[in-house]
Amino acid sequence: MRIDILTILPRLLDGPFADSILERAQKNGLCEIHVHNIREYSTDKHKSVDDYQFGGGAGMVMLIQPIADCIDQLRKDRTYDEIIYLTPDGDRLNQSICNALSLKGNLIMVCGHYKGIDQRLRDHYITREISIGDYVLSGGELAAAVLVDSIVRLIPGVMNDETSALTDSFQDNLLAPPIYTRPADYNGWKVPDVLMSGNPKLIEEWRMDEAYKKTQQRRPDLLDE
Ligand code: 6GU
Repeated sequence: MRIDILTILPRLLDGPFADSILERAQKNGLCEIHVHNIREYSTDKHKSVDDYQFGGGAGMVMLIQPIADCIDQLRKDRTYDEIIYLTPDGDRLNQSICNALSLKGNLIMVCGHYKGIDQRLRDHYITREISIGDYVLSGGELAAAVLVDSIVRLIPGVMNDETSALTDSFQDNLLAPPIYTRPADYNGWKVPDVLMSGNPKLIEEWRMDEAYKKTQQRRPDLLDE
């Protein structure tokens, strides 16, 4: 998989992909992540990336030209499966969207700032709009980092058995059951006996029960899906 991210604040994305699972995925050649500074594509003499909005009103709007030129440049070298705009008014991200996107080959992600991007980019370039939840971030970069992480960890080979994506909360519409490690008794706080029983069938049943109870308590909406 190849992911190209367009942003006016590339430094915001220096950290999130440089460690742990995302670092390894890139080193092992399972995904490439390229961050592009939109300002470098601006053709006006001030390297502008935004302007006032037609019709008046507070807040700047990101210009078509630098973003369109950057996407056109990228599309010369390969075709893209989706051109995603990260925006609070997009489709709310969930595990099934992550699963579907993890099967794609090439993705572009456009990070918005200020009031957002010119509507004509959304009409003519963007193929998909995604929000990471019902709250407002100051820009799309952190949302793009969340989206990249949630997708890349699902690419076959990125995670080993111990961290398998199949046992995650949400993967089967259930929240994860409680987990424990040593010591079995910490100052009198004991691990449930069943986990020490050595009986895999009992343990699996207990985990399913606990996952179901937790989901019913915290997220009954997931059980309806
Ligand atoms: Cl994708 N962008 C911004 N700016 N805020 C958000 C968001 C995206 N998703 C939730 N809040």
